[in-house]
Amino acid sequence: MAEKVYIFDTTLRDGEQVPGCQLNTAEKVEIAIALEELGVDIIEAGFPISSPGDFNSVVEISKAIKEPIICALTRAKDIDIDTAVAALQFAKHKRIHTGIGSSDIHIEHKLKSTREQVLEQGIAAVKYAKKYVEDIEFYCEDAGRADIEFLAKMVEGVIAAGATVVNIPDTTGYTLPWQFGDRIKYLMNNVKNIDKAIISAHCHNDLGLATANSISALANGARQVECTINGIGERAGNTSLEEVVMILKSHDLGLETNINAKNLYSMSQMVSRMMRMPVQPNKAIVGKNAFAHSSGIHQDGFLKNRENYEIINPADVGADSSSIVLTARSGRAALSHRIKNLGYSLSKLNLDELYNHFLELADAKKQIEDEDLLKLLKHADLLKK
Ligand code: KIV
Ligand code: ZN
Repeated sequence: MAEKVYIFDTTLRDGEQVPGCQLNTAEKVEIAIALEELGVDIIEAGFPISSPGDFNSVVEISKAIKEPIICALTRAKDIDIDTAVAALQFAKHKRIHTGIGSSDIHIEHKLKSTREQVLEQGIAAVKYAKKYVEDIEFYCEDAGRADIEFLAKMVEGVIAAGATVVNIPDTTGYTLPWQFGDRIKYLMNNVKNIDKAIISAHCHNDLGLATANSISALANGARQVECTINGIGERAGNTSLEEVVMILKSHDLGLETNINAKNLYSMSQMVSRMMRMPVQPNKAIVGKNAFAHSSGIHQDGFLKNRENYEIINPADVGADSSSIVLTARSGRAALSHRIKNLGYSLSKLNLDELYNHFLELADAKKQIEDEDLLKLLKHADLLKK
């Protein structure tokens, strides 16, 4: 039987940190409801100490959501934890996400502290939060660049203090997939109480490796992935939820999620619209071109059998059917297909004639639309069904 991977969605926290993506409380609640329908296990609803608006969003999301765990972010400080506990008061299932820097660069240059002090502060934060909330996740910030032995010590210490989930963030998106996987493997093999907690991967996309690093973490024992819709997030973004889900569906890694993949496309459109953040056309799974075929060779192969050029059926992610885009690189098979879709059927001779006119127009115009095809048919006197 496949093992469960917990999907921790941070669109409303790490995703919402992106300049220009800020949402009001009502919009956040709307997205949270859609995330619940999508089937995410945990919704990171915000960072309550950061602003009264964020606090209020966590309160309202907590009231609106029934199934997923509602998570609130804190620093390893009592005041942050108190504020998060208050914001989560109405949550049916709640989690505090606290943590501190774990790399020497963060410890020395950001926290102006020492390894011993951050370890002590992290453990104290878990113990403090545990007095109010049972489910405590601890993040070892910048774990991708931390000394691995110190990281293992931190993970062991916070689990002993009561952490139920330990987040290993590649905060700067620095690691390569096998390096990140090796970090997880090291922790699985060297932290003696590791079986008492779930290990989580939180990867950033600075080198375009967030999804690959998250999958590598799963292959080495992590069982929770932190991700966002459309991969939005600080700088180059976070791991993209839709990519992780469809990778686990497309490959038999013995792992599964609870996500209703058919909601992925509408969820992506909703987040893009509400956060005013367009989805790049070539974005895997949810981009406008993810199921579009434009070169003659691909179109011909696709029309013979979809699986020649598609590993995912667009219907499986709730996207419109695949599209055949007509450009100067398209062949007769694609032209004939689109003409048939308009309700016309041409003899081979007529198709050859039309194809020559089509190429002339396609060289002049980037993309040929249905109106152009109708004009071409009319011009060639082929407008009879
Ligand atoms: O990237 C990161 O390290 C984070 C933590 C706050 C979890 O977002
Ligand atoms: Zn992050």
